[in-house]
Amino acid sequence: MVERMIIDCDPGHDDALAIILAAGNPNIDLMAITTVAGNQTIEKVTRNALSVCAIAGITDVPVAQGAGVPLVRPQIVAPDIHGESGLDGPVLPEPQIELDPRRAVDLIIDLVMENEPGTINLVPTGPLTNVALAMKVEPRIVERVKRVILMGGSYTRGNSTPSAEFNILADPEAAQAVFAGAWPVTMVGLDQTHQATADADIVARIAAIDSPLSEFVVEILTFFGTTYKDVQGFDAPPVHDLCCVAKLVNPAVFATRDAFVGVELTGRWTTGMTVTDFDNLLDQEHNTQVATTLDKQLLWDMTINAISVLSKGSAA
Ligand code: RIB
Ligand code: CA
Repeated sequence: MVERMIIDCDPGHDDALAIILAAGNPNIDLMAITTVAGNQTIEKVTRNALSVCAIAGITDVPVAQGAGVPLVRPQIVAPDIHGESGLDGPVLPEPQIELDPRRAVDLIIDLVMENEPGTINLVPTGPLTNVALAMKVEPRIVERVKRVILMGGSYTRGNSTPSAEFNILADPEAAQAVFAGAWPVTMVGLDQTHQATADADIVARIAAIDSPLSEFVVEILTFFGTTYKDVQGFDAPPVHDLCCVAKLVNPAVFATRDAFVGVELTGRWTTGMTVTDFDNLLDQEHNTQVATTLDKQLLWDMTINAISVLSKGSAA
């Protein structure tokens, strides 16, 4: 069954791979790309999204710019991991399409309200500012969205503080609103995405496709690998956001466990923590399916296939 989705992203090296998988897999109907400030400023991540569309030959998907600042807190960005452009590594292709005139929030609301209830998945791979705003501007989307499959949080440790993952920490109030919403949520956290590393053999398989797109992907993974090595001591970069789209391509890509997830908003040391209760210790209703394990071979096989498919028509 084809899964219809909107990706709300902050490209971002791993967001770029998520877009490519979504566009290159026949099981996915990529209905829109919306951008949110996160890895870099809204201007930079939006430009990056258009560059990814250009190199991947994505010309028929609306791209709309979203929130440039979090709901409440000061903005944080991640140049140490993603570079000054937010997508350092390759020369970024010139955009080939114009932005949709609507704001991200309006595009999300329009698509969800215009289509049958229960048919569109929201796949946020950046801070949750746009998704939280959309819920508030049009509360009816909550009962109509099929599932929110978000990259963020973790039930063990963070990556931006000992307890907080970047997407959640960047806008914890937005994240709390999304987890508290009466819609199905899948949390794809670091516990699982840290297994999704682009090891040397995977990069070699991508390089062997030998297309402008595969070369672009190798260049972004190479840069991503250097920063993840230098900053976080990884032998290969974890391509976090890819895992969210992969779940829609083939649910077998990772298992989940039901839990209550609440976002810490006031902890001096723990703000942005996704407090994950699998065992009803907090006496709270389970509100989230939490990703627990990963079939890494399946993840990368489907991703490499998507790059091959798009390479047959990718921009020269
Ligand atoms: O913590 C990793 C997440 O933050 C990824 O989505 C990455 O792209 C950044 O947005
Ligand atoms: Ca991201």
